[in-house]
Amino acid sequence: MANRYQAPKGTFDVLPVEAVARERVERTARELLEGAGYGRIETPIFEDTELFARGVGASTDIVRKEMFSFDDLGGRSVTLRPEGTAPIARAYLEHGMQKLPQPVKLWHLGPYFRHERPQAGRFRQFNQLGAEAIGSASPLVDAELIVLLDELLRSLEVPALRLRLGSLGSPAARGPYREELAAYLRQHADELAKDVRERIDENPLRAFDSKDEGTRAVMAQAPTMLEQLDSEDAEHLAAVRQLLDEAGIAYELDGTLVRGLDYYTRTVFAFECERLGAQSEVGGGGRYDRLLDELDGPPTPAAGWAVGVERILLALGERDENSPRDVFVAAADGQRERAFALVTQLRHAGLRAELDLADRGMKGQMRQADRLGAARAVILDVDGGAQLRDMSSGEQREIELARVVEALTGP
Ligand code: HAM
Repeated sequence: MANRYQAPKGTFDVLPVEAVARERVERTARELLEGAGYGRIETPIFEDTELFARGVGASTDIVRKEMFSFDDLGGRSVTLRPEGTAPIARAYLEHGMQKLPQPVKLWHLGPYFRHERPQAGRFRQFNQLGAEAIGSASPLVDAELIVLLDELLRSLEVPALRLRLGSLGSPAARGPYREELAAYLRQHADELAKDVRERIDENPLRAFDSKDEGTRAVMAQAPTMLEQLDSEDAEHLAAVRQLLDEAGIAYELDGTLVRGLDYYTRTVFAFECERLGAQSEVGGGGRYDRLLDELDGPPTPAAGWAVGVERILLALGERDENSPRDVFVAAADGQRERAFALVTQLRHAGLRAELDLADRGMKGQMRQADRLGAARAVILDVDGGAQLRDMSSGEQREIELARVVEALTGP
C-alpha cells in the first residue's frame, strides 16, 4: 500500500546512493568553471514576483502559467525562482558589480521551480547548473561560454550530443521581423494551435517552440530572424562561429531556435541529447544584452547558460553508488569503547571510517563491513589484540593498536 505522505507531484528525494553522481557533476563543474575564472554566486530561492515578470517576460509560458507565486504575510507577491538569470542580473546591479573589472563571471548551482506537467526529464523542482558573464559584448564571451559548456558535458561523458546555434539579432532589428512573422502567422491562422494563434501579436516567436503538428508544419516554412540580421548582428554571429570552428566545436546553424525566455538577443544555443526523448535539451542559453537595462540598470551586455542536472544524470543513465569507505572497525565484546576512539582517530587522519552502531555480533559486523564496501577492516579482539584485514583478498594479519593509523595512512 502506498504511504499516505509522498513527495509532491513532479518532485523527488535524492537518496544517498544517488548523491554520489550529483556530487561528481558539481565537482567537475566547479573545477572547470573556477579554472576559467568564474566565481560561485548564490541568490535566494524566492524573489519578488515582478523580477520574473519584467525579466523573463510576461508573454512567456514560465510567467503566464508555471510560476509558484504566493503572497507573503506582508501581502507582497513572491515567487519560487523559475530560473537564475534574472536573479543574478538583479544581484549584479544590487551589489554594484559594474564597478568590478568587466565582465563579471559567475557560476551557480541550485534548485528551481516550474509548475509544468511532470514527465521524464521534466520536474516541478529541479536543479540547474549555470554560468553567466556580465559586462562584455564581445563574441569571445559567447564562444568561451559555449566551449566551457561543451567541455563540461564532454568531461561528464554525456553521450550523443548535438549543438544548435542561432541568432535572434538585436531588439531594434527584430521589430520589423516580428511584424513580418506575425503577418505570416495570420495568413496561416487556421493551421495553428489555439495558444499560438492567441499570441500572434504578443509574441509571434513563441510559435517556433510549439509541439503542435500543424503549427510545426507552418513554422518549417516561416521566415527566420537568422535570414535578416543587420550587419552588426551578422558580424557578431560570424565572429562566434569562427571562434567555435577554431575550437573544433561542431554545431548546426538553426534559425528556428528561439528558447522560452524573452530576454535573449543575438546568440542563442542549446545542447541536445538524443537519449533524452521528448525533453531532449540538456542545457542552453545565449546573450541577454537588454536584461539589465530592463531591470532599471545601465545598459550592460551579458551572456550565459544553464544545464539541468537531472537531465545530465538521465542522459548518463547513472546507477546507484555507495560512497566507498576506507575502513570498518569491528569490535569483539567489551571492545566497543576502544573501537569508538579508534574510529575518531582514523577520521582525524582523513580516512572514511565507520564502526558498528547496531550491536551486531562479530559475524554481523564483518558482513556490514562488506556491504559498505570497506577496503579494510580493523578487528579488535576480546584479549585487547588487533587484526588488520584486507576485505577483498581476505588476508589478515596481527597489528599493534598504536600502529593502526600509521598502517592505514602510510604508502
Ligand atoms: P532554460 O532553457 O529554461 O534556460 O533552462 C535551462 C535548463 O534547465 C534546460 O535546458 C533543462 O535542462 C533544465 N530544465 C528546465 N526546466 C526543467 C524542468 N521542468 N525539469 C527539469 N529540468 C528542467 C534558463 O533557465 C536560462 N536561465 C538559461 C540561461 C542562463 N540563459 C542565459 N543564462
